[in-house]
This record gives sequence, structure tokens and C-alpha cells, in this order.
Amino acid sequence: MKATCILILFWPLFMLILSDESQTFKTEVKCNFTKQNYYLIPADINKEVTVLDLSYNQITLNITDTSILQMYYLLTELYLIENSVIILCNNSFGNLSNLRILNICRNSIHIIQQGAFTGLTKLQQLYLCQNKILQLNPDIFVPLKSLKLLNLQGNLISYFDVPQLFHLELIILHGNPWNCSCSLLNLQNWLNTSNVTLENENITMCSYPDILKYYSIKTVPYKAECYSKLPSPITEDLQINFQSISNSTFNSSLNNLTRNSGNVLDTNIAEDSILKN
Ligand SMILES: *[C@@H]1O[C@H](CO)[C@@H](O)[C@H](O)[C@H]1NC(C)=O
Ligand SMILES: *[C@@H]1O[C@H](CO)[C@@H](O)[C@H](O)[C@H]1NC(C)=O
Ligand SMILES: *[C@@H]1O[C@H](CO)[C@@H](O)[C@H](O)[C@H]1NC(C)=O
Ligand SMILES: *[C@@H]1O[C@H](CO)[C@@H](O)[C@H](O)[C@H]1NC(C)=O
Ligand SMILES: *[C@@H]1O[C@H](CO)[C@@H](O)[C@H](O)[C@H]1NC(C)=O
Ligand SMILES: *[C@@H]1O[C@H](CO)[C@@H](O)[C@H](O)[C@H]1NC(C)=O
Ligand SMILES: *[C@@H]1O[C@H](CO)[C@@H](O)[C@H](O)[C@H]1NC(C)=O
Ligand SMILES: *[C@@H]1O[C@H](CO)[C@@H](O)[C@H](O)[C@H]1NC(C)=O
Ligand SMILES: *[C@@H]1O[C@H](CO)[C@@H](O)[C@H](O)[C@H]1NC(C)=O
Ligand SMILES: *[C@@H]1O[C@H](CO)[C@@H](O)[C@H](O)[C@H]1NC(C)=O
Ligand SMILES: *[C@@H]1O[C@H](CO)[C@@H](O)[C@H](O)[C@H]1NC(C)=O
Repeated sequence: MKATCILILFWPLFMLILSDESQTFKTEVKCNFTKQNYYLIPADINKEVTVLDLSYNQITLNITDTSILQMYYLLTELYLIENSVIILCNNSFGNLSNLRILNICRNSIHIIQQGAFTGLTKLQQLYLCQNKILQLNPDIFVPLKSLKLLNLQGNLISYFDVPQLFHLELIILHGNPWNCSCSLLNLQNWLNTSNVTLENENITMCSYPDILKYYSIKTVPYKAECYSKLPSPITEDLQINFQSISNSTFNSSLNNLTRNSGNVLDTNIAEDSILKN
């Protein structure tokens, strides 16, 4: 293999003053192996690699690849654009605890196992655009405590359970066949109440039902009945106290909830969790 890794050392000016060099310089080792016809992630790359571009190959990210990837634990950026990934398996990136950017756009991913992103606690940008994702289990995002950007553009997603991504700043959702039946109201609520920006809001449109086509998922008007149908995120194991139901848009569903669970809930908390979930 032609090694095309480039080593770049950064010595920020002020650090030259400090004596302990080993702690103060940052090394970037960039390896660019785009369009090499690789079927597997090469195992003989410099172990110090921090930026690895393997785009435009035929890598499947099978178990052979993931065990090789574990060696490159200094990686901060990994690009696998236009490869042959179909399934993202559990622990695919298990040892990559330094990874900040992961780009797997333009593959054929249709299954993401629940533990696929385990270990990626520092990941800030996740690009899954132009794949064949139909459904996303919100639990897959749980390990991504630092995620700021999520790109799901150009998939087959019609419904999206609100993910628990508290630091998310930007989400890209256009090019999916959004089903703007009541079930997407939760997502709208989240888009409105969290600090996340929906990129290309105007072209992030409903595909269904026909009468709501060309409405943005962020502004599509939902009928009152949708609000009362909001699936309740409150479960029996949450210990919430309820004193009185008053003045709430969710009055009827809350009422129902209290009746059904027999629990005594606090209006504020209940409303809050409905809004935020
Ligand atoms: C790798 O090389 C390709 C083609 O020269 C370039 O487009 C791409 O940006 C490079 N990747 C990185 C991470 O610099
Ligand atoms: C992973 O994929 C490569 C290339 O398609 C193949 O050679 C290798 O045998 C596969 N490994 C496993 C464990 O299936
Ligand atoms: C996983 O990363 C650790 C450092 O965090 C490293 O010591 C270990 O060798 C890596 N595992 C493999 C299989 O390379
Ligand atoms: C993947 O990991 C999750 C837990 O994170 C586990 O529940 C699931 O069974 C695993 N799936 C496979 C196919 O190993
Ligand atoms: C949209 O969602 C509703 C309610 O979940 C369902 O009845 C309907 O079949 C879905 N439509 C499409 C095209 O998926
Ligand atoms: C949004 O950001 C503001 C200011 O940074 C913060 O006070 C607020 O708690 C954030 N809201 C949510 C829902 O994260
Ligand atoms: C989105 O659409 C609205 C109304 O059609 C328009 O006022 C606004 O400028 C558009 N925003 C962008 C970013 O195109
Ligand atoms: C979200 O905000 C839009 C305006 O930006 C509004 O039309 C819509 O009704 C709001 N939805 C919810 C559920 O608050
Ligand atoms: C009930 O809600 C209305 C409209 O949102 C508000 O004007 C009124 O003050 C509220 N009453 C109580 C008791 O909270
Ligand atoms: C909420 O429901 C209770 C019991 O059904 C009812 O008495 C009350 O008037 C309702 N409040 C609003 C604001 O709809
Ligand atoms: C209340 O609960 C019953 C059964 O538990 C259900 O059939 C009904 O649709 C619910 N009503 C609302 C407004 O959620």
C-alpha cells in the first residue's frame, strides 16, 4: 500500500514558552485513502492516525473492519462516504473514544443496531445522510453525549422519536418522507422547545397525508385531536405527584392518564415531560 499519511504538528505560539513539549504540541496524522478499491479497512496504517479518509471504497464495516478500527484509537475524524455499509453493528466504533466527526453518508445503511455508537462519547458530528434508514431507535443516540450535529438527510424516515440529545445544535432532516400524522407532533414540539436548529426548515416537508404535503414539519398545523393523542412518555416507574388538573392544553390526555394510571401527578411536571419528550 502506498502510504499517503501526512504528519502535521501544531505548536501554538504560546506553548513554545512552556518547557514540557510532549504535553503541549498537538499532532495531526492525516491518512487519505479515497478511491483505492478497498474492501477492508487497511490494517497497516500508522497507528497514530488522527484523520482517516476512506471514502469511495467498498468497505462494509463488518467485524473484520471493526476489529481493525480499534487499533486507530487516536482517530478524531473518520470518513467513510460512499462505501458499502449496510448494517451498523454493535460496537462498530468501540475503541474510538477520541472521535469527533464520523461521516458515513451515501452508503446503504438500513439497520443500526442499538449499540452501534457505543463508546463515542466525544462525537460531535454524525453524518448518516443518503442511506436507506427507515426507522431509528432513539436509544442508539444515548452514548453520544457530546453530539452537536446530526445529519439524517436523504433517508426513508417517516417517523422520528425525539432523541435524548441535549447538546444538539443542528439537525438536518430534509429528503425524508415525513408522515405528518399526529405521531410527529412530539418531534415538532421538540424542534420548537429545544435549542436545536432545523437546517433547511423550508424544504423539510411532510410527504403524508396529501393535504399537508409541502408543509414544513416544523410549522405544519396539527389538529386539536393530535394534542390529546400525544403518546404519554410518563410511565408508572416515574414517581410524580399530581395534585390538580387545571388550565392545560393537555388537559384531556392528562386526565386520561391520571384515570388510567391511578397515580397522582403534578401538572407542571406532567406537562413538562410531554412537551420535552
Ligand atoms: C482526501 O482527498 C480527497 C481527494 O483529494 C479530498 O477531496 C478530501 O477532502 C481529502 N480528505 C480529507 C479528510 O482531507
Ligand atoms: C469482511 O468483508 C471482507 C470484504 O468484503 C471479507 O473479505 C471478510 O471476510 C469479511 N469478514 C467477515 C468476518 O465476514
Ligand atoms: C484500544 O484503545 C486503547 C487506548 O485507549 C489501546 O491501548 C488499545 O490497544 C486499543 N485496542 C486495540 C485492540 O487496539
Ligand atoms: C446490541 O447491543 C444491545 C445493547 O446495547 C443489545 O441489547 C442487543 O441485543 C445487541 N444486538 C446484537 C445483535 O448483538
Ligand atoms: C402515517 O401514520 C399513520 C399513523 O401512524 C398511519 O396510519 C399511516 O398509515 C401512515 N402513512 C404512511 C404513508 O406511512
Ligand atoms: C437553551 O439555551 C439557553 C441559553 O443557552 C438555556 O438557558 C436553555 O436552558 C436552553 N434550553 C433547552 C431546552 O435546552
Ligand atoms: C422560508 O419560507 C418562509 C415563508 O415562505 C420565508 O419567509 C423564509 O424566508 C424562508 N426561509 C428560508 C431560509 O428560505
Ligand atoms: C411550533 O412552532 C411553529 C412556528 O414556528 C408553530 O406553527 C407550531 O404550531 C409550533 N408547534 C408546537 C407543537 O408548539
Ligand atoms: C389559564 O390560561 C389562560 C390562557 O392561557 C390564562 O389567561 C389564564 O390566566 C390561566 N388561568 C390560570 C388559573 O392559570
Ligand atoms: C380539564 O378537565 C377537567 C375535568 O375533565 C375539567 O373540569 C376542566 O374544565 C378542564 N379544564 C380545561 C381548561 O379544559
Ligand atoms: C383515554 O384512554 C382510553 C383507554 O385507556 C382510550 O381509549 C382513549 O382514546 C383515551 N383518550 C384520550 C383523549 O387520550
